[in-house]
Amino acid sequence: MTADNMEDLVSLCKRRGFIFPSNDIYGGMKGLYDFGPMGVELKLNLKSAWWKSMVYERDDVEGLDSTILTSPTVLKYSGHEDTFSDPLVDCKVCKARFRADQLENSECPRGGSLTNCKSKDLTEARPFNLMFKTAIGPVDDGSSFAYLRPETAQQIFVNFKNVVDSTSRVPPFGIAQIGKAFRNEITPRNFIFRVREFEQMELEYFVKPGSDEDWHKYWLDKRLNWWAEQGVKSEKLKLLEVEKKDLSHYSKATFDIMYDFPHGLEELEGIANRTDFDLGSHSKNQKDFNIKANIQENKNSTTKLAIQDLENKEWFIPFVIEPSAGVERGVLAVLNEAYTIEEANKRTLLKLKPHLSPIKAAVIPLKRNNSDLVNIANNVKSELQSLGLGRVMVENTGNIGKNYRRHDEIGTPLCITIDFETLENQTVTIRDRDTMKQEKVSLSEVVNYYSKYFK
Ligand code: GAP
Repeated sequence: MTADNMEDLVSLCKRRGFIFPSNDIYGGMKGLYDFGPMGVELKLNLKSAWWKSMVYERDDVEGLDSTILTSPTVLKYSGHEDTFSDPLVDCKVCKARFRADQLENSECPRGGSLTNCKSKDLTEARPFNLMFKTAIGPVDDGSSFAYLRPETAQQIFVNFKNVVDSTSRVPPFGIAQIGKAFRNEITPRNFIFRVREFEQMELEYFVKPGSDEDWHKYWLDKRLNWWAEQGVKSEKLKLLEVEKKDLSHYSKATFDIMYDFPHGLEELEGIANRTDFDLGSHSKNQKDFNIKANIQENKNSTTKLAIQDLENKEWFIPFVIEPSAGVERGVLAVLNEAYTIEEANKRTLLKLKPHLSPIKAAVIPLKRNNSDLVNIANNVKSELQSLGLGRVMVENTGNIGKNYRRHDEIGTPLCITIDFETLENQTVTIRDRDTMKQEKVSLSEVVNYYSKYFK
């Protein structure tokens, strides 16, 4: 069973240290969240599952970690300065601002939904650019500034030649990046679903023009399967083709992977065919290549972003297929899927896939501060920790019932209890989160048991 509503998830996330409102003790800031001790592990695990599947398990993808601060020139030629905006309206009565295309879901700051608001006295919609700017250097006179990147993708495109030259890649191949992106959303909402600072997991996959549609289909399939492997049920995912009128300026076709979030069916990941728009826009000598996309003339680029065809020796600008997923939306989806209430057992648990669980195993000495038990627990923890499969922790509180409840709620797959039998006959009790079954395992077998479980 998934969470019935967002409130249950928000409450568990705060209570158990997954997600906190940012700047909380000063009243918080809208659209910003911090990841707590459990949240940071879950996020790291989701990102490493993505990196493993996109980079390590393939032989055609390289990684990149580029800067967040981005030159205005990059975002000029990418089209973001001109087009990265949402329609904004002001209420003439209370001066609040809303997204013109989301009025029916908006709240009036004076209370109640906007559609019931008496004033209905709104300005005409006008474009509001979503990029954050910051001054660069010691003089803040507006002459030298950078943007906080609104997507990680652009730095992949501007590093294209660096990566190609240093790795000798030819299409089809990809460049993957995970990192922060920033958008000054007019109305951040729905917990971590729409926020102003978030992380993206993006792959830019470069292909020969003409093979782009086949590769687009390939990536749709791959990405749907990946979400299923993270525990997101296939029946809760829907592939939606973005209507032509709603396509981003760079896209020939985009499919959104939609997920049934607690607040409704919404985009989890977008998979776009960006054509040769981006490399073409950032390239010098654009006229030398048969660029299909509608681009503006580039007078600043120092580099041609083309590749020589090994067969006919002609230079061409590759097309790009881009699967782009939000980490926060991924975290929300896997938490929602994992959230389970078992009335019969009077417990709430997170049935997270073990590779995503923040804590892989809790090692629990039955009696608090009993040095014999605690020493064994510490040794077991060290041995399991050294396997490098994720965080293992010792719970030295002496309350086994409370420990089981806490670890059910944060999704720990295994609890390993060190009790007085351990001292007598060298066995421990291993409890499985989902079945609650308890098994006696010899101390010398614990490492083996644990490794097999996570294999
Ligand atoms: N490079 C392509 C790109 O940025 P996008 O559809 O605007 O495309 C990709 O964003 C993904 O980033 C979305 O599918 C979503 O998961 C995530 N995302 C976008 N805006 C977000 C926001 N304000 N808060 C949280 N996640 C967001």
